[in-house]
Amino acid sequence: MEFPTNADVLVGLSRADDAGVYRINAELALVQTVDFFTPVVDDPYWFGQIAAANALSDIYAMGGIPKTAMNLVCFPVKKMEMNILRAMIQGGLDKLTEAEVVLLGGHSVEDPELKYGMAVTGFIHPEKILTKNGLRPGDILILTKPLGTGIINTAIKAGLASQETTERVTRQMAALNRNAADVMAAFSIGACTDITGFGLLGHLAEMTAGINLGARLWARTIPILPEALEFAAMGLIPGGAYKNKEFRESMVSFSSSLSPLLPEVLFDPQTSGGLLMAVAPGQAEDLLQALKQNGVSGALIGEVVRNAQYPIIVE
Ligand code: CO
Ligand code: CO
Ligand code: CO
Repeated sequence: MEFPTNADVLVGLSRADDAGVYRINAELALVQTVDFFTPVVDDPYWFGQIAAANALSDIYAMGGIPKTAMNLVCFPVKKMEMNILRAMIQGGLDKLTEAEVVLLGGHSVEDPELKYGMAVTGFIHPEKILTKNGLRPGDILILTKPLGTGIINTAIKAGLASQETTERVTRQMAALNRNAADVMAAFSIGACTDITGFGLLGHLAEMTAGINLGARLWARTIPILPEALEFAAMGLIPGGAYKNKEFRESMVSFSSSLSPLLPEVLFDPQTSGGLLMAVAPGQAEDLLQALKQNGVSGALIGEVVRNAQYPIIVE
C-alpha cells in the first residue's frame, strides 16, 4: 500500500514506531497516536485510568509531551448500565488531569463489546524524537515497569490471583510513564519504546531488526512481577504470548541454563507497560538513580552489542 506523505512527515507509516510525528516548524512538531481496547480489569473506573495511561504512553515513548486527547468509546447501550460508562470516562479524565492533558472531545458508537481508549496529540522538538531505530553499540537497556501483566491478567480472569496481586498489577497498569519520560529527557538516549502487546522481546526485536547490532539481555536483572512465573507454570499464558513467540522466536537465543518459563514472560503481551530506554553506557547508573529519585522503579537489563550471532541473546 502506498500512503500519501510529505517532507514534514518525520515519522510516518513507512516504519513501525510508537507514534507519528508531523513537523510544524523548526522548533515544533506534533506527535500523534491512538489506542483503544476491551477491558483488562473489571472495575470501570480503573479500566478508564489504564486505557488513558496506555494511550498517553506512546507519546512519552517518543520523547514528546502529551497535550490534548479525544475519547473513543464503544458501548453496549442495551446491555450495560450508564453508570459503568460514567465511571470509565471519569477514570480516563482523572488520568488525563494527572498528566496535565486536556480532553477536547471524542466519539462513541453502540457496540456489542465495550471498548475504550483515546487519540492523543503531543508536542515534540523535531530534533529530539526518540524512535525505535536509534540503538548505538554499547548502549545500556533500562526497563521501567516489571513484566508479566498479561499472565497475571489471565490468572485474574481465572479467579486465581490474590486481591493483593490484582491491586498491584492494576495500579502498575494505571501508572503513567510520564516521570520516566521526564527523567529520560536529560540523558543521551539512542532509542526508546514502550512495552505493550508484543512483549519485551517482540518490541526489542523491532528495535534490532534491519540493523547490524544485537541486544544481550541479562536475564537475572529483568524485573518480573511476583507470581508471574508461577502462573506461567500453571499454563496461565495469554494467547498473544504464543503469537509473539511464534513470530519472533527465530531472532532470540536463550541460554540453556535459564528457566524454560522465562520466554513466556519475556514474550508476554503487556498492557500499559514500561519504557525500554537505550542509554549511553556512561550514563546508565545515573539514569537509574534519577528514575528512582523520581519514584520510577527500573533496572539495567542488558546492552547493545556488535557482531551478535542473534539479534537478541538472553543469558
Ligand atoms: Co508503543
Ligand atoms: Co500503542
Ligand atoms: Co519511541
